Formats: sequence, structure tokens, C-alpha cells
Amino acid sequence: MLGDEPISDAYAANAEFWIRIVRDDLDPYRSGLTDPALLALIGDCAGLHILDAGCGEGCLTRELITRGAGFVDGVDTCAEFVAAAASHPAHDPARARFRQADVAALPLPDDSVDLVVASRLPHGLSDPGRRFVEFARVVRPAGRLVMVTMHRATALRGRGDALPRRLRASVVFTGSDDRDAHHRRIRDHRHA
Ligand SMILES: C[S@@+](CC[C@H](N)C(=O)[O-])C[C@H]1O[C@@H](n2cnc3c(N)ncnc32)[C@H](O)[C@@H]1O
Repeated sequence: MLGDEPISDAYAANAEFWIRIVRDDLDPYRSGLTDPALLALIGDCAGLHILDAGCGEGCLTRELITRGAGFVDGVDTCAEFVAAAASHPAHDPARARFRQADVAALPLPDDSVDLVVASRLPHGLSDPGRRFVEFARVVRPAGRLVMVTMHRATALRGRGDALPRRLRASVVFTGSDDRDAHHRRIRDHRHA
């Protein structure tokens, strides 16, 4: 991996919890706020080749396939999430593929995707600028990047210029900016 081991390890140590939060719909901010905003920003995705960057256990990929996406490549550094995504009963290998990979080194050719979606990914990245450059490499010239990030300051404060000019980001910000505390919360969090 290329620098995001702390966050990936934190997710791996608590993977069962985070998978349950998503699959049992236990996060009202997600279901009531960020997911609807994200899907509205994505809009019509029929036939598109999409990269789900930091795909987690695959819920967004499944939703995009349901909405008519042509093919979704999901990548995540957390092996437990990738395995969960690939073994979900609704996973269709003809429409989606999940791989353990760092978004700093995407296993995709140049100009190969129509849309990059990074849902809740950017705030966890150790070097967002490097990842955004990689997004720019794989997205087609007329393609788009849509992001949701949770930490107002961590990922993008003072680094807006890291976004390649041809990408236009749609960003939802909430939360705090302490990276180590963020990793501890991921590792230790339990649902009340
Ligand atoms: C908050 S979770 C969001 C997961 C999923 N997008 C969702 O909305 O349910 C952030 C995800 O990004 C992954 N991640 C963190 N750094 C990464 C990197 N450099 N490359 C790929 N995935 C990464 C984590 O393993 C985790 O699954």
C-alpha cells in the first residue's frame, strides 16, 4: 500500500461492525443525508463505466448497478471489505468487479471510466492530491468526479489546488480534522 495503512488497518480491525452499519442501515446520516445527496449529484448513470473508489463493502456499487450502470470497478485497501463485497448475494461479476487496491495506484488504464465516485473516502487519505491525480488519469476527458467527504479540514483544507483542473468536485463536508482520533474511532467504535 502507499500510505493509508493506518486507516485500512483500523477498518480491518472493525470490519464486521462497519459492514453491519451499512447493511443493517444503522447510520441515519448516511441513509437520510449523504447517500441521497450523492445519488442526486451522480444523476443518470445508465451505461456508464464507474470507479467506486474506496468501495467498502460494496453498497454503492450495488446501488449504481441497480440504477443501470454499465460496469462498476470497486477498489478498496481493506481486504475484509473487498471479500464482503465480492461475496454479497447481489454481486454480479458481469456488471461489477471488486479488487484490493490503493487509489494511488489504480488497476485501470488511462481514460477508461466515465465517472469516479469517492464516497466518504477523501477524508481518510494520507495524501489526497496524489490520489486525485490518479483519478484524473483514469477518467475520460468528458468524465466526472463526485465526492462525499466527512472531515471539513483533513482532506482538502488548503489543498483545493490538488484537484486537477479538468475534474470538478462535488463535496459534502461535515466533521472534525484529527486524523489519529479518526483512526481510533474507526477501530474502536461500537454501535450503542
Ligand atoms: C468511510 S469508508 C467508505 C466506504 C464506502 N465508500 C461507503 O461509503 O460505504 C472509507 C473506505 O475507504 C477505504 N480506503 C481508505 N484509504 C484508501 C485508499 N488509499 N485506497 C482505497 N481505499 C481506501 C477504506 O478501507 C474504507 O473502506
